[in-house]
Amino acid sequence: VQLSKRLDTLASLVPQGATLVDVGTDHGYLPIYLRNNKIIKSCIACDINKGPLENAAKHILRYEATNIELRQGNGLEAITSQDEIDTILIAGMGGYLISDILKNNTEVVKGSNLLILQPQSDYEMVRKLIHNLGFAIIKEIFIEEDGKYYTILCNAPGQEVYTKEIDYIYGKKNLENPSKDFIEWMNKKENTLQTLCTRLASVVNQQERKQELEREYALHQEAMRCIQ
Ligand SMILES: C[S@@+](CC[C@H](N)C(=O)[O-])C[C@H]1O[C@@H](n2cnc3c(N)ncnc32)[C@H](O)[C@@H]1O
Repeated sequence: VQLSKRLDTLASLVPQGATLVDVGTDHGYLPIYLRNNKIIKSCIACDINKGPLENAAKHILRYEATNIELRQGNGLEAITSQDEIDTILIAGMGGYLISDILKNNTEVVKGSNLLILQPQSDYEMVRKLIHNLGFAIIKEIFIEEDGKYYTILCNAPGQEVYTKEIDYIYGKKNLENPSKDFIEWMNKKENTLQTLCTRLASVVNQQERKQELEREYALHQEAMRCIQ
């Protein structure tokens, strides 16, 4: 099975010999690739919906992958401590949903060694939750694929707190070591914020929105100074 850049990056973070759970597996490509390339020991591929699981089952047969168990359930609820999961992967979902999944099953989360997350939104909330769950962000990879930007967070148990707000908003690792794609995304965001500020300046009311935007822009400029 051939993976997209995003899925390939996610796969590169999974450790050799892992017992994995892939939450929201959809097509099942990630576990299939990881098994067929002898990277993981086994995988429980979960999804809340039946359709994706049927799809994944078809792909597992087609690519002759073994040791992948399909389970239907909301988030991590289909997982127990007996499954001895060491690596949790949740990708391609909104950050709010990912946060809910993690908060609703802290026992499974805290029993794992590695948490690989790719939220599509609400990054700040996800980074804060990672720290609150007793994990440290050990690696963050920011990539572009087909005009869309993705940040991938790799987290291991450990105490960590960020002192600056921008570190939670943009990712401390991204700011310390910005990828070409991250810089591109930051520049685009800069332009968007500038346009919005100019547009809003000519509006008489909307005071609250103006203040909110000014604050957002100030934080963005602070972050821009870190990567220049
Ligand atoms: C956009 S797909 C992402 C698929 C794959 N993880 C990826 O990154 O390419 C999201 C998948 O998550 C599933 N999903 C949504 N909410 C879920 C939940 N609460 N628990 C488990 N799976 C969920 C959907 O059915 C869908 O198959």
